[in-house]
Amino acid sequence: MDGKVMVTGGAGYIGSHAVLALLDAGHEVVVVDNLVTGFAWAVDARATLVEMNVADPRIADVLREHRVRAIMHFAGSVVVPESVNDPLKYYGNNTVATRALIESAVAAGVPHFIFSSTAATYGTPARVPVAEGDPTVPINPYGTSKLMTEAMLRDVAAAHPINYAALRYFNVAGADPKGRSGQSTVGATHLIKIAVEAAIGKRDAVGIYGTDFPTRDGTGVRDYIHVSDLAAAHVAALQLLVERPGESHTLNCGYGRGFSVMEVLDAVDRVTNRTIERRLEPRRAGDPAELIADNRAILAALPWRPQHDDLDGIVGDALAWERTLAERQA
Ligand code: UFG
Repeated sequence: MDGKVMVTGGAGYIGSHAVLALLDAGHEVVVVDNLVTGFAWAVDARATLVEMNVADPRIADVLREHRVRAIMHFAGSVVVPESVNDPLKYYGNNTVATRALIESAVAAGVPHFIFSSTAATYGTPARVPVAEGDPTVPINPYGTSKLMTEAMLRDVAAAHPINYAALRYFNVAGADPKGRSGQSTVGATHLIKIAVEAAIGKRDAVGIYGTDFPTRDGTGVRDYIHVSDLAAAHVAALQLLVERPGESHTLNCGYGRGFSVMEVLDAVDRVTNRTIERRLEPRRAGDPAELIADNRAILAALPWRPQHDDLDGIVGDALAWERTLAERQA
């Protein structure tokens, strides 16, 4: 592709892996990140880093100077409970800021847009696996803020020469298998991150939020997808947008299978060859029992195929990165 790919949030967890996947595939990349939650060191040296908010009107200059042909938009706020306590932050950082970015993209004639959406747009799905055409009834402001952006993209693509892919992520986990990036967020709330922190002694135990769900062992079931597979899906989606300018796509990103909290913790014990203490705790507000992607649409639309869909491998990569982080902080 002629011109560069702009990656917003490219200094963050998923964005930094997308940057690696794009560079490895031969694309040129400009990262826009305000470094509020991201880290400059997480951006591969082959990419250019511009420290800026996505809603900044100077984005127009960045789009022009770097001849941007596609935007991958990862920047945003991502903590579900925080979105309940501070909804305006989520509508501001996710919906309103993205509206400004889309406006800059349309004004600059950027033809392709890839958006980080979420399984949280479904809320509590009536059936699992959940498919893209199923009802979207978010149960928290985070999910609503993302669903509102999907609506903006749909309407903008109908009115302007731009196409988009809205990728609905399930539970993203793991780290670059080559050890170049990983989840570095401080105060993470995600199960696999917390479990590997416990495995290296950063925490003394892992709380299990609910043991009375209607699942095989009573704990919550999720579709964990390796971050490098997710990054590869973005590169493949970009290719599709370029090849078929008149089409846009909304696609679940998951493997179509789920693991319970107990099964994840068993995997961590297996991979680390030790036993992490488990504390049984009440359910967390708003957690669905089971969330699994129907991934037939992405498998049909893209040549993308999972390469890292092995739970022990996901845990192993997350653990290796946690050790790297611990050495960095020592
Ligand atoms: N869990 C625990 N203990 C923990 C952390 C999590 O038992 O310390 C459980 C949760 O209750 C859930 C599962 O592990 O059953 C996964 O929880 P995560 O917090 O890792 O992820 P979520 O499924 O809550 O969140 C994910 C994405 C969100 C998205 C949401 C949609 O991270 O961005 O799915 O429901 F909004």
